[in-house]
Amino acid sequence: MGDTIGIVILAAGKGTRMKVETPKALVPALGRPLLDYVVDAALKFAHSSSLKAEVGVVIGHKKELLEEWWNSHENKSQLKLAIQKQQNGTADALKSCFNDLPHFWDYTYTLVACADTPMIQESEFIRLFEALKKDPTMVGVAGTFEAHNPTGYGRIVCSSKGFHIVEEKDATEDERQIREVNSGFYILKTSHVKEILGSITNNNKSGEFYLTDLFQDNFSVKAVKCPSEIPFLGINTMEQLAHVNGLLTERKLKKFFVDGVNILNPQSVHFDDEVEIGVGSVIYPGVTILGKTKIGKNTVIESGSFIKNSQIGDDVEILANSYLEEAEVHHDVTVGPMARLRPGTIVGSKSKIGNFVEVKKAKLAQGVKISHLSYVGDAEIGENSNIGCGFITCNYDGVNKHKTKIGSNTFVGSDVQAIAPIEIGNDAFVAAGSTITKNVPDGGFAIARTQQVTKEGAAKRFLKTKKT
Ligand code: UD1
Ligand code: MG
Repeated sequence: MGDTIGIVILAAGKGTRMKVETPKALVPALGRPLLDYVVDAALKFAHSSSLKAEVGVVIGHKKELLEEWWNSHENKSQLKLAIQKQQNGTADALKSCFNDLPHFWDYTYTLVACADTPMIQESEFIRLFEALKKDPTMVGVAGTFEAHNPTGYGRIVCSSKGFHIVEEKDATEDERQIREVNSGFYILKTSHVKEILGSITNNNKSGEFYLTDLFQDNFSVKAVKCPSEIPFLGINTMEQLAHVNGLLTERKLKKFFVDGVNILNPQSVHFDDEVEIGVGSVIYPGVTILGKTKIGKNTVIESGSFIKNSQIGDDVEILANSYLEEAEVHHDVTVGPMARLRPGTIVGSKSKIGNFVEVKKAKLAQGVKISHLSYVGDAEIGENSNIGCGFITCNYDGVNKHKTKIGSNTFVGSDVQAIAPIEIGNDAFVAAGSTITKNVPDGGFAIARTQQVTKEGAAKRFLKTKKT
């Protein structure tokens, strides 16, 4: 049988230094939990290497939230969970993994990864593994790097016999000057872990069990220095999170440029990590695009627009200051300026949603026009229907929501209210100013407004009555 490896991601910590309620592993960087980035790299390594690999995630602090994360993870079946009951340090976290997943002892190698290091790439795992394989007498390698600012990291203290790692809290003033630091990523022979893990003590300033004690001067271990600190940047504070968010944004922008996306002022836009944009699309300054938003080809997004978890087709124009959330916009559509598409909105191709139009949970077929100042909620509108200015679906009776259905090729005049539940058929006509309370059949003409009274020459007389 070939070599096997257990990849253990430590994600049980609280993240005290972040000062937020969310467990650190779930704190988002560009819209995704920090842990997701590490899981991605681990799975890529697992799939690319010739090793048989399995990924375990150690959770503990607010474990219910991490269990929820796991339950909805697209790669759930490839991830095993282990629970660290008390956060007694990284060595204790690894121990919990072997307690809950004892078959991890059978793997030839154990790779340990921290959950708070989102810039990590599978290439770093490969680098570590190759270094370990080179010398069969070696029992473990630790990834290290020269830190621009070593504060907070464990320092690599070299001696004539080898090296060991000293945590910041336990370091002497001289040791704190060392800039080569521990990345928190290691690959070890599992036999070495088995021999040493149980004997690690918490005899240090934090009173925690340090995993770094697997590396001692007289062990056959190696520090493998990465030429760049970026893949190993650990996040312990909000300042470090902001720094990494900046780096992730740079990486994202570079990818957009390679993909042929025209971003007019890259410094002024914000994209989450999972946003996709097609070739030829133009993004104006001051645009925010979040979540799993997908934008097609040759689409224009104008300034001030905010788009979250939405699907937007090709050749679409989202004009200035529009707000879209969980909306689906098909090709050749114009939205805005200043339109709001709320969750459950589907806009068919060649449709137009104009200024000050709000649409919620509504399915608009192809070629629908709602050009000005309207509210369309809980509705369905058929092909090529034209909705005039100031149309309102009165969908809420104070207790329940009701549906409005409008057919194809129907004309609804300005200032119409549809009191739902209501149905207006195909090829129908609703006159301006109508309050529609009864269904309108196919081809029907509906008018529901009081008759006008005009008195010739009466204007002056009327005004006179107003004079005091
Ligand atoms: C750790 C290393 C340090 C290294 C740094 C790199 C130790 C003792 N120190 O320090 O040498 O330079 O990472 O970023 O390992 N965790 C648990 N259970 C616990 C404690 C922590 O699962 O009881 C997890 C955390 O969720 C985190 C990871 O282990 O993902 C590292 O913990 P953290 O507290 O961030 O350690 P650092 O102080 O950064
Ligand atoms: Mg850390």
